[in-house]
Amino acid sequence: MKSIYLFLVVCFLSASSIYAQKFENLALTPPMGWNSWNTFECEGVNETVIREMADAMVEKGLKDVGYEYIVIDDCWQIGRDDNGYIIVDKEKFPSGIKVLADYVHSKGLKFGIYSDAGTMTCARRPGSKGFEYKDAETYAKWGVDYLKYDWCFTEGQDAKTSYKLMRDALYKAGRPIVFSMCEWGENKPWEWAENVGHLWRTTLDIDMNGRYDGNVNGNLFGWSDLVDMQVGLEKYAGPGHWNDPDMLAVGNGDMPINEARAHFSMWAMLAAPLMAGNDLRNMSFSDQEILTNKELIAINQDVLGKQGFKVVDLGNFEVWQKPLSNGDMAICLFNREIKNTKYQVNWNQMNIKDFSGAYTIKNLWQNKVIGTTDTNFLIEVPARDVVVFRLTK
Ligand code: GLA
Repeated sequence: MKSIYLFLVVCFLSASSIYAQKFENLALTPPMGWNSWNTFECEGVNETVIREMADAMVEKGLKDVGYEYIVIDDCWQIGRDDNGYIIVDKEKFPSGIKVLADYVHSKGLKFGIYSDAGTMTCARRPGSKGFEYKDAETYAKWGVDYLKYDWCFTEGQDAKTSYKLMRDALYKAGRPIVFSMCEWGENKPWEWAENVGHLWRTTLDIDMNGRYDGNVNGNLFGWSDLVDMQVGLEKYAGPGHWNDPDMLAVGNGDMPINEARAHFSMWAMLAAPLMAGNDLRNMSFSDQEILTNKELIAINQDVLGKQGFKVVDLGNFEVWQKPLSNGDMAICLFNREIKNTKYQVNWNQMNIKDFSGAYTIKNLWQNKVIGTTDTNFLIEVPARDVVVFRLTK
């Protein structure tokens, strides 16, 4: 009797472990794409916007440098039918989601969508609670490649259980879908979600208007504050499982060029997902240049998959390091002052991990090799700006 019981337990455990997993070999480098929220929020999103953004991603050269996901955030859904299947908001998406996904795919891009672990999404559209398997089945049928899964209206729910439930539902639906957990870091997903999601938000929302610091109503944070919240999380990130300090605000509000460059550089250093959130159709040339900087993107997409970390902190002046493949490394001098700051680069005294002398130095924003680490120098970093070096052995 006892052995039959044991046998059944073993069968159950191995069967559940077959399903209790996320799709492997996805997001081996941080996902790159575009998401509707930071510009269009609920009001402005519709199928025309999504189509035109897919067009712009190709036409403006973003696809060529690695951006691939076009993600509809909140407000595409309106209700549930009698069988519990989700109903699309026909006013915003008259052609339906499948047609839109097909269009995005026809451009050589991938398609993402949004839902919520609770009863309602943050914009009070229907959430997935109680309908996880039906929703996952629907997404697979539509050809969804990426799901952002939010955490509003989840009173009384356990985060681990809720996110594992959707992970299992996606797995059962059978289509490889990147699972982007948007739980805002409340339950420290970095400690338990490596086998649940491919990326997880570590913070509340970025201020979509691109403010540098401070917060709005305690909910929307300036991007430099989000940088501070990533300190110490580097050990949890790696291929297939990334910390997500939220989407990019480059090109939103009136973010000046220097701040946009610094914001983008820090997201590259942090191995953060690079999800643009601006209107790609009419972005400025400088925003386009920033978003498509190949050298910075290579830092972000480096296959070693290490998240950068702070090695020097002088208050308003910091040095960050990101180990890269082949023994290369990226070094970012981040000036948080509102005035230009001079910094004495002394290669052997910068606390750089595994630094072993004699690297070639390339200044990435200047696209210029400037010498080797045998020479120290004084450098001026402009106000709220960065200098990023790639050191090559
Ligand atoms: C939350 C998320 C945002 C966005 C909105 C949509 O605030 O954190 O990124 O998805 O919901 O309502």
